[in-house]
Amino acid sequence: MEPLLPTTKHRRGRRTPRQERALANPGPALLSRESLAEVMAGDRPIVLDIGFGTGETVVAMAQDDPDTLIVGVDMHTPGIGDLLATVDELDLANVRVVEADVRLILDVIPPGRLTGVRTFFPDPWPKKRHHRRRLVTSDLAHALADRTRVTGFWHLATDWAEYADQMDEVVGGCARWVGGRITRPAARPVTRYERRGMAAGRESTDLLFERIAG
Ligand SMILES: C[S@@+](CC[C@H](N)C(=O)[O-])C[C@H]1O[C@@H](n2cnc3c(N)ncnc32)[C@H](O)[C@@H]1O
Repeated sequence: MEPLLPTTKHRRGRRTPRQERALANPGPALLSRESLAEVMAGDRPIVLDIGFGTGETVVAMAQDDPDTLIVGVDMHTPGIGDLLATVDELDLANVRVVEADVRLILDVIPPGRLTGVRTFFPDPWPKKRHHRRRLVTSDLAHALADRTRVTGFWHLATDWAEYADQMDEVVGGCARWVGGRITRPAARPVTRYERRGMAAGRESTDLLFERIAG
């Protein structure tokens, strides 16, 4: 299945045989734009995981909450292969995978449809001149508030202290999200990415916001 964005060489990256096998035979977990719209039209609770990497968190949270459909969206093809392979190996019925830039599929998500959103360790773009490439912006906060039901959540994490400040500022700056920094919840697994940050001496910050009426 073609990704929803033209795929660049960089995003394609090198793939392992396991990833190749899963990408060649993705099964029903991999959604097209049309099948994503069909999933959105159903009535199952949906949590969107933006930028799932290799999918470790998606898998853990899907196992913890079998009644909720976890829709993971990422644009890095090898990671898509990893998650599809794990979904198949563990026979996970409540995971769906979308290969896209999340900003290009927001229009497929109806108002108030999401129960929650997770954005763990988005690319930090630490250099000041690259900050405009960061995913968590005021525009995204408003767009996700439109698509998340009242009482729904947005859980974010980063190991870049100054990006945590930005998250607090832009998400907290949207009147329909209330919350901020929290103690790390035990249910959030340590991913390979987070472990690398810890080894480099970086501390993780979790932020949790609730969607309020407005
Ligand atoms: C640093 S990794 C973190 C992966 C994972 N969430 C974790 O905690 O280990 C960031 C991921 O976000 C993805 N990503 C970056 N921008 C994105 C976008 N606009 N839409 C969807 N995924 C994106 C990248 O491809 C990458 O897999």
